[in-house]
Amino acid sequence: MKDFTAASDYPVAMDVTPEVTPFFDEDSNTFSYVVKDPNSDACAVVDSVLDLDYAAGRTGYEHADRIIEFIRDNGLKLDLQIETHVHADHLSAAPYIQEKLGGKISIGNNITVVQDVFGKVFNEGTEFQRDGSQFDILFREGDTYTIGTMPAFVLHTPGHTPACMTHVIGNTAFVGDTLFMPDAGSARADFPGGDAGQLYDSVQKILSLPDETRLMMCHDYGTDGREVQYETTVVAQKAENIHFAGGISREEFVKMREARDATLGMPRLIIPSIQVNMRAGNMPAADTDGNVYLKVPINKL
Ligand SMILES: [Fe+2]
Repeated sequence: MKDFTAASDYPVAMDVTPEVTPFFDEDSNTFSYVVKDPNSDACAVVDSVLDLDYAAGRTGYEHADRIIEFIRDNGLKLDLQIETHVHADHLSAAPYIQEKLGGKISIGNNITVVQDVFGKVFNEGTEFQRDGSQFDILFREGDTYTIGTMPAFVLHTPGHTPACMTHVIGNTAFVGDTLFMPDAGSARADFPGGDAGQLYDSVQKILSLPDETRLMMCHDYGTDGREVQYETTVVAQKAENIHFAGGISREEFVKMREARDATLGMPRLIIPSIQVNMRAGNMPAADTDGNVYLKVPINKL
């Protein structure tokens, strides 16, 4: 498939409304989703979370088990797991869910760029493949697929990370870390491989979807103490987003985004998250004693 050249090329199916069930992870403020075809038992899972008690170095499955239970209780068939990007604030539970329910694990094809950047940060040896082969599917912009009878397509929306993709399933877009709810603005663009200018361009792509397209957030932090929210629309973002409403030039956005990012600390779980998520949610190979260890690079991030 080749990249879209204009929004009129997007094969949006506004007459198809997927049944979307959110699962909120309070520890990382992440929304995972089960996306069900209204006309069949097929579903997809977007951005699952593996629990991690970082202080104890202990993983858990409470969040993932809620998703698995939902899929089983409703007699659904899991076709696809979508990682919108390599998350820096939580571990993916994709391999755990795949082991229980099957379905393919996917990410954007620029995962190879992320693997290259962070392969260096974590001084991974040659046994760490940087070709994305840990994933079952590498999507690129313009790719189309179906979940049951629902048509879907993929937009490349980098800036937060090089591999960020927005998946548009029927009339609903899963935007990953690009836009947040209108009162929260946009994602940070200062991780290695991030780029505020690219993020601006990516947001323009999302805002060129039809006005009534539903947008599902990857995160929400409950701005000013309100309840967390996960769903908005293109038209609401155009009218109200604190970083984009009323129009902002690329240059102004880059200046604003970079100034804001300079004030942000690293996410609490970035070090374990990246090491696991760049391996499609798998831990590094066991050490010589049979135990699994993660690294902490000193003074590198
Ligand atoms: Fe992220």
